[in-house]
Amino acid sequence: MKKIILTGGANGIGRALVESFVDKVELYVIDRDQEAGEALEKRLSSPHLHFFYGNLADKATLEAFVNFITEHTSQIDGLIHNAAINHGGLVSKATYEEFMEVLQVNVGTAYYLTQQLEPYFSDPCSIILMSSTRNRQSMEDNESYSSSKGALLSLTHAMANSLRTKARVNTISPGWIETSDFQTPRQAVELSGSDHSQHLVGRVGHPTDIVEMVAFLLDEKKSGFITGQEFLVDGGMSKQMIYHEEHGWNYSK
Ligand SMILES: NC(=O)c1ccc[n+]([C@@H]2O[C@H](COP(=O)([O-])OP(=O)(O)OC[C@H]3O[C@@H](n4cnc5c(N)ncnc54)[C@H](O)[C@@H]3O)[C@@H](O)[C@H]2O)c1
Repeated sequence: MKKIILTGGANGIGRALVESFVDKVELYVIDRDQEAGEALEKRLSSPHLHFFYGNLADKATLEAFVNFITEHTSQIDGLIHNAAINHGGLVSKATYEEFMEVLQVNVGTAYYLTQQLEPYFSDPCSIILMSSTRNRQSMEDNESYSSSKGALLSLTHAMANSLRTKARVNTISPGWIETSDFQTPRQAVELSGSDHSQHLVGRVGHPTDIVEMVAFLLDEKKSGFITGQEFLVDGGMSKQMIYHEEHGWNYSK
């Protein structure tokens, strides 16, 4: 069985990854939401699912997670850094400390886990970093999150060069992925017709759209010639020219 490491597996896209990969691979997952993680562990009840609870912002926790992994296995085939936080920015007056925490969790974790786990990488390992289309497009008050997601793009090609044959490193940049069915407790979200139809493909994204991309990038036979790249999974949202009163778009202040 392949050994895969995942950050942020208790809710959202990470939970969809756990539910899809459980029993197909050996999964080592870190999340700070112990209640949601334990509910998932109980429901899936798999000997191949190993949860560790802690905050990625804490260096000692990252090191404890690395020890937890390496006590179980000496081989790692995939590392998916999926967890992320967002503390806003200039409009909500995010503090310097809050800004830095976002960089630490969203970017620093990817670097430090890669560095600590590199001796255990299989030949080759697949590293997947979860960015966002907000690495290139912003809303107001998005400084901490957008800058961290942009940094993941550069980290991707930098690590692809440093690791070369040891690991392929790629980024997935999701657009709007509706995760309410994968939250514990479940969230009630009502999507409108326009929420869907504004996308070129006519619908909002589902966590399985990301799961399929991850599965492709983990599979050496399918994606073995791909490294240092970014894959946008956004239903075409970032490829539209948007002007007031064209194609049904209307700007109101
Ligand atoms: N859902 C979307 O529309 C969307 C869009 C673009 C990008 N993304 C990216 O996809 C990834 C997953 O997004 P999601 O919507 O599923 O998120 P989510 O918030 O639903 O789930 C994130 C999980 O990570 C865990 N986590 C967060 N910070 C942590 C920390 N410091 N320590 C330990 N665990 C932590 C949370 O507890 C949670 O279980 C993120 O990187 C996000 O930026 C999501």
